Amino acid sequence: MVSNIVNELVEEYIRNMIPKSSGIIYEMEEYARENNVPIIQPEVAKFLEVVIKASSIKSILEIGTAIGYSATVFTRAMNIKGKVVTIEKNEEMFEIASKNIKKAGYEKNIEIKFGDAVDVLPKIEGKFDMIFLDAAKGHYQKFFSLCYEKLNDGGIIVSDNVLYKGMIASNKYVKRRKITIVKRMRKYLDYISKHPNLTTSIIPIGDGVALSYKNREEL
Ligand SMILES: C[S@@+](CC[C@H](N)C(=O)[O-])C[C@H]1O[C@@H](n2cnc3c(N)ncnc32)[C@H](O)[C@@H]1O
Repeated sequence: MVSNIVNELVEEYIRNMIPKSSGIIYEMEEYARENNVPIIQPEVAKFLEVVIKASSIKSILEIGTAIGYSATVFTRAMNIKGKVVTIEKNEEMFEIASKNIKKAGYEKNIEIKFGDAVDVLPKIEGKFDMIFLDAAKGHYQKFFSLCYEKLNDGGIIVSDNVLYKGMIASNKYVKRRKITIVKRMRKYLDYISKHPNLTTSIIPIGDGVALSYKNREEL
């Protein structure tokens, strides 16, 4: 899937640098392509792999499982030593993800919770090194408020699709029926960018990724 925020030639060049996938990861990529399931783009997957490895992340909470692709990529990046808890509200996606995760041999590492994240999040116990927001774009602020306390100090919240095909940056690209999502996303980005306990960087790869580091308390 091509995004609209990065020069096409540059995006193609970067993608060509990424080694081809194999096994279940490749199968999931093919399934997503054939069935129009929106999974993280290859360059975003690679970027997050680096973040996970460089920060020695060992626990991840994800909102929006889809077919279990990102959860599988993250588990592999943690070298199967970590844990992913992921939430999905679509029953068909939940079933497909469960099969894929079993096929990958990651049942012990990935726990899929079925339901709307707004209902499921308050029941999730424990804290995480990384939280990945990749579900309904109009609800990031709500997800954030339910997640923030579950993020360890020194942890990272990753918000995907935050530049939404260029619409967030400029009204020139906004489609009328998307105006509510656009307004909410702009407000969310302003909020996480100015949050006193977060250091946020908005990165123009894929459809836009925001990385928010939760500052450690003063020692
Ligand atoms: C972009 S896809 C997730 C892709 C996945 N993270 C990946 O990269 O492989 C978004 C998913 O979030 C799910 N979703 C949307 N709103 C949700 C909510 N409120 N609670 C739980 N899941 C939700 C959708 O059903 C969809 O499968």
